[in-house]
Amino acid sequence: MAGRKLPNNLKLGVATSAYQIEGAWNSDDKTPSIWDVMCHQPNNIEDNTTGDDACKSYYFYKRDIDMLKFLGVDFYRFSINWTRLFPNGFTNITSSAGLDYYNNLINELLANNIEPVVTMYHWDLPQKLQDLGGWANPLIAYWFEDYARGLYKLFGDRVKTWITINEPHQIAVFGCGMDMLAPRINCHGIGEYLAAKNILMAHARAWHIYDEEFRKSQNGVCGIVIASDFAQGATNNIKDVEASVDAVEFHIGLYSHPIFSSDGDFPERVKRRVAAKSLEQGYPRSRLPEFTNDEIEYLKGTSDFFGFNHYTTYFYTRANYESSIIPSFYDDIGAKIVEMNFEKGVTFQCTIVPKGIRRALNWVKDTCNNPNIMIFENGFDSYGGLNDLNRVSYYRQYFDDILDAIEIDGCNITRYTAWSLMDNFEWASGSRLKFGLFQVDYDDENRKRSPRCSAIWYKQLISTRTLNLNYVPLLEDICF
Ligand code: NOJ
Repeated sequence: MAGRKLPNNLKLGVATSAYQIEGAWNSDDKTPSIWDVMCHQPNNIEDNTTGDDACKSYYFYKRDIDMLKFLGVDFYRFSINWTRLFPNGFTNITSSAGLDYYNNLINELLANNIEPVVTMYHWDLPQKLQDLGGWANPLIAYWFEDYARGLYKLFGDRVKTWITINEPHQIAVFGCGMDMLAPRINCHGIGEYLAAKNILMAHARAWHIYDEEFRKSQNGVCGIVIASDFAQGATNNIKDVEASVDAVEFHIGLYSHPIFSSDGDFPERVKRRVAAKSLEQGYPRSRLPEFTNDEIEYLKGTSDFFGFNHYTTYFYTRANYESSIIPSFYDDIGAKIVEMNFEKGVTFQCTIVPKGIRRALNWVKDTCNNPNIMIFENGFDSYGGLNDLNRVSYYRQYFDDILDAIEIDGCNITRYTAWSLMDNFEWASGSRLKFGLFQVDYDDENRKRSPRCSAIWYKQLISTRTLNLNYVPLLEDICF
């Protein structure tokens, strides 16, 4: 069967994050994170589940590695649970149990020829640091620097690809501006922008430390991962097109512009809109904090790659925000999403718009100085079942467009990562929403993991290094 050959330099992997899979929320000397706290309060999670046990990967990580071997991946992206390693949030105390766990995981991956790609921060801030203001406190940049240095020292001899922070937009808007993610600050119109600035400064400190103190001896790379779901006008009307440009700048540009553009700083369009709205609303200054000139310079160029997460494209029309929640991020954009007639998974977040990933990749190429793009998440949700041919179809179509972006448009893409290795705790949606290539049986105390059709499809893509649009995967009778 003919197919499209994958470029030789494109590495293929899968991803998870600590809170979503590890469980063992209070084992040994681990202290609570903001997600432990959020999940232990009633009614915060749609199906009232928690990540207390999740996939129990803290105990079953060797089985996770067997699944990675089954797939044949080049790398595994996972994250460090901050309070498992450093129980009081600062680095003066290291947990020996936490250290053993991550050493074992990393060593076992390397022994099996699977490269560890490590996310330092995938949303699980130590509650102690939250009590001190969390992402709203500018000092967090220094706390994060210390944390990052701790990680480079402990694992940098073996970990060569570091991700500082996963999806700043989600942390800032959903966690600080709203109450959808921990820590549920809900200080809309203000909290998200304070967090945005402090997250960027924290990231930059972690990158500079790597660059100055570790790069020479450890010889790896360090960068940020930005949620890059894309936006398009709901019509070709100039107003809608402008609205979609604003949406992209508020969602992606807010984080990419300070780091990847030649001028640095937050994007002009965002600065202008938030300043005008703030004035109109009687604030004495813009709700979007400013960077000093030194900070602008300090941030520029602080990512060795563009970490790119992508699920869908949203369609925008220019419209006033229909809510009394003002000031807010969405009111500042001044646009609303229009539902279009595309096939989707369970949620809006997984509407199938394959061309959108190609557009998003080209936007990154054109506005971020043609960076090395590492796709660190791409995936499709469902309510379960092994026979997930709609997920296969999503992956197949998106992959086809990624290859167009590489071959026709010249995007420099060096990694592709499927989200996720297995079903896991999907934040406020709980355990009901599934993204796994492997199904996890939560009723089984051993959390049996079974490959879905999508796992078989991905395994075939990896082993043949060819995208075959006609290949139909058949379930295999195997479990882990
Ligand atoms: C983005 C996040 O990084 C990840 O934790 C989450 O599970 C997926 N998207 C799916 O929503």
